[in-house]
Amino acid sequence: MSRSAHPAGPRHADVLTEGHYTAPPADLNALDPKVWAHTVSRNEDGVVSVGGIDVATLAEEFGTPAYFMDEADFRARARAWRTAFGHDADVFYAGKAFLSRAVVRWLYEEGLNLDVCSGGELTTALSAGMPADRIAFHGNNKSTEEITKAVESGVGRIVLDSFQEIVRVAHIAQSLGKRQRVQIRVTVGVEAHTHEFIATAHEDQKFGIALADGQAAEAVRRALALDGLEVVGIHSHIGSQIFDMAGFEVAARRVVALLAAVRDEHGVELPEIDLGGGLGIAYTSEDDPRDPHEIAKALNEIVTRECEAAKLQTPRISVEPGRAIVGPTAFTLYEVGTIKPLDGLRTYVSVDGGMSDNIRTALYDAEYSVALVSRASDAEPMLVRVVGKHCESGDIVVRDAFLPADLAPGDLIAVPATGAYCRSMASNYNHALRPPVVAVNDGEARVIVRRETEEDLLRLDVG
Ligand code: LLP
Repeated sequence: MSRSAHPAGPRHADVLTEGHYTAPPADLNALDPKVWAHTVSRNEDGVVSVGGIDVATLAEEFGTPAYFMDEADFRARARAWRTAFGHDADVFYAGKAFLSRAVVRWLYEEGLNLDVCSGGELTTALSAGMPADRIAFHGNNKSTEEITKAVESGVGRIVLDSFQEIVRVAHIAQSLGKRQRVQIRVTVGVEAHTHEFIATAHEDQKFGIALADGQAAEAVRRALALDGLEVVGIHSHIGSQIFDMAGFEVAARRVVALLAAVRDEHGVELPEIDLGGGLGIAYTSEDDPRDPHEIAKALNEIVTRECEAAKLQTPRISVEPGRAIVGPTAFTLYEVGTIKPLDGLRTYVSVDGGMSDNIRTALYDAEYSVALVSRASDAEPMLVRVVGKHCESGDIVVRDAFLPADLAPGDLIAVPATGAYCRSMASNYNHALRPPVVAVNDGEARVIVRRETEEDLLRLDVG
């Protein structure tokens, strides 16, 4: 759901008359740097390469479908967020976007912290050597086991999401003889302009504790009274794939107002605020994402200004970008299997993956781009729908795009900006084998998450 997405998605032939779909790009061989990872380019022979290795070589060595991740680009984006926020703020990469041990090590080396939202993510982070005090633990229904593991391992903060959890975490920490640093997640009542399923700060949803009618203030009151908890701050996450900074500004203002109210009531100035993640990326050339420096400047200014007005010390700010760091760094490489022209409608191009490696199109009407990458072509553009090999007609990878009319079975096509929420949301639907993630850097490629095998499937099937 890039910003240009029609709320219901352009589903039928009416797409032919809709906005930018009517016009194919001027040059089908061009690769827009907005949507492709930094080191991606088309070589003189027309083949596309990443990290100095061409896709034909990659496909031969690692097979298709596969995700190829540009390690230098990942590190550069992580570093850009880190430097944009500077030493007075913390950047927690949101592991739900994509997490593997290699990624944890890159983050550690680039000076980022990590947000995890399950026991599985916590285990991955710890097993790759991320120091526990650089980990924040999230979730709206953490289990007793997860909380115990988080407290025992000494995570830097647990973000409390409900009244029950305040008591649960306090109890577990106390029984382990610890005092757990916690933030309280509030819902600030902002309608973020994004898909309903990934907007999280309006009141009618499952996350956080509402600022409205004093709920959040009551949560702080209860948490401050418990010995097992050290309340260090307030957390807000307004949604995902957002381009407009206005929602973050309203959230920052409301969170600072709560800090002031807490100071007035308890005489305590909470030292931290977290403004969550959610910054949008370009999935198509239509999208214009913000630069981390611009985001950092806007957030710092608003928090500083509001704190001055409320006569509060400026708290330490943290943010939790996931998609904005990893999203643009990877593409999915597919082989074309069949091509079906439907007269007067469009041409269906079937690839060897589908909704099992990218559910976002089916789930959110997300828009993607696609390019022929195993060769250049001067053929006319044809309107295509790139579909997968699963047994349902909603199995769409790219709803509407243009590819050259001489496209043929065996060609390799790639969908950019699939680093976030694709492998991490991949499934085994139809007993598909989840594709590998291959990191490419400086002429070297290495598997960081291997391809699933049929043995993996059978290992779980113990009946
Ligand atoms: N912090 C919290 C508390 C979150 O819930 C999330 C995302 C993030 C940070 C990171 O958000 P990001 O910067 O990546 O937008 N599966 C959906 C996105 C769900 C986001 C869930 N929470 C998608 O594919 O668009």
